[in-house]
Amino acid sequence: MTQEIQSSIPSAEPSTVTIEPGPHALPGDNARKVFIKTYGCQMNVYDSTRMADALSADGYVQTENVEEASLVLLNTCHIREKAADKVYSALGRLREMKKLRHAKGEEFMIGVAGCVAQAEGAEIVRREPGVDVVLGPQTYHRLPQALKQARTGKRVVDTEYAVEDKFEHLPDPTKTPGRKRAVTAFLTVQEGCDKFCTFCVVPYTRGSEVSRPLSQLITEAKRLVDSGVREITLLGQNVNAWHGEGPDGKEMGLGDLLYKLAEIDGLARLRYTTSHPRDMDDRLIEAHRDLRMLMPYLHLPVQAGSDRILKAMNRRHKAADYIALIERIRQARPDIALSGDFIVGFPGETDADFEDTMKLVETIGYAQAFSFKYSSRPGTPGADLPDHVAEDVKTERLARLQELLLKQQHDFARSLVGKTIDLLLEKPGRMPGQIIGRSPWLQSVNVDAKTSQIGDIIQVRITDVGPNSLFAEVAGS
Ligand code: SAH
Ligand code: SF4
Ligand code: F3S
Repeated sequence: MTQEIQSSIPSAEPSTVTIEPGPHALPGDNARKVFIKTYGCQMNVYDSTRMADALSADGYVQTENVEEASLVLLNTCHIREKAADKVYSALGRLREMKKLRHAKGEEFMIGVAGCVAQAEGAEIVRREPGVDVVLGPQTYHRLPQALKQARTGKRVVDTEYAVEDKFEHLPDPTKTPGRKRAVTAFLTVQEGCDKFCTFCVVPYTRGSEVSRPLSQLITEAKRLVDSGVREITLLGQNVNAWHGEGPDGKEMGLGDLLYKLAEIDGLARLRYTTSHPRDMDDRLIEAHRDLRMLMPYLHLPVQAGSDRILKAMNRRHKAADYIALIERIRQARPDIALSGDFIVGFPGETDADFEDTMKLVETIGYAQAFSFKYSSRPGTPGADLPDHVAEDVKTERLARLQELLLKQQHDFARSLVGKTIDLLLEKPGRMPGQIIGRSPWLQSVNVDAKTSQIGDIIQVRITDVGPNSLFAEVAGS
């Protein structure tokens, strides 16, 4: 039977808009299958795995093949205009797929989660008639109920900031059937942002800063380790703003949390991302000094090197403060490598301002970095500033900056050739007998090893540098 999809949706309360429910059979082998496409940052990667956990309680298993899925979830990003545009073009393609699948009498549902869902909410179901559910980053634990409602023909938009703690409502992540055993895992410790950088949508899409309590984090970290995880990356939009209460009632910061997690038996490595320069306190720097298992790699975005632009961005520190901070961190942990984010062409950025960014990059020396053209985001203060920079100027500045950053990245990688490093063996490589491992500095390293060694940390000697990964041989071989 053919499912009619309404081509236009009335602008009435979207969660009560009805499309005709059909008697849809599930595809093939009875199991409900979900295909999840993740856009944006690591927070979304983590959220996608937790959505899969929530859905597993409903009988869903994850598939990498959209053709066999009965549910497609887009976990979206709103950070730049292009990121949001991608979602709408994907939804257009999915709408066509839905028509075909419904024509065959099969169930095919489309869900939109993440930051576009939060920012645009009901607008998505108005624009895209194929979408069944829209859930924000704080409500995805309600996904099974939303799908149930959608099966009755109601399209659901649920983007409120949930009063209940979503983490308390998600099943144990290590008990999800079919979940891949992983050696590395993300653990969200903090969500949201109170910094309000003038270019950024995150405070609006993810809400204000909330830290998860210590006991919850210790429990989740232990579960991950029990299931085979050796390296945990703590996540937050502003991860170093994490704060909590210790068992003795004392206030704790991210540094204290790292010391606590370092006590977990079987856990070999810790990382955290993304941090803000303003929240790098002494205790956190001490943790870098004292904890060998805290990897010597820090993503600490600065965005720009001109004090005038930093002020207009509301970063609330000067370039010199950042440089001094990095010096202190390097004193505490001399082998630390830095990573950063940069925006070129923020409104009002002159050639001289841009040169200050180039100078700062030269001064610091990054092992890795992400750089973007400024994208004006409606609703952020930056969008209303005068003197937006012409596109071709942004393009030219980005090219120059990226050339420098790429050179630094390559120089850093080359400096490792001949050195012996610890490598966490993570997964099979493309070639038989090859395993891909993770260096302390988050590089992928190819080495000949046995699959049974996955999860081990071995010593390897770096032999060569490829465009996206390094090559190594087992040390002493
Ligand atoms: N909380 C992190 C950043 C999260 S967003 C921090 O403060 O560092 C990730 C990166 O996207 C930012 O660091 C910034 O470089 C980039 N970004 C954010 N908004 C942007 C915009 N409007 N245009 C271009 N890049 C942007
Ligand atoms: Fe965005 Fe700034 Fe918050 Fe980072 S600190 S998420 S860039 S507002
Ligand atoms: Fe994008 Fe949201 Fe992350 S806007 S960068 S997915 S917090």
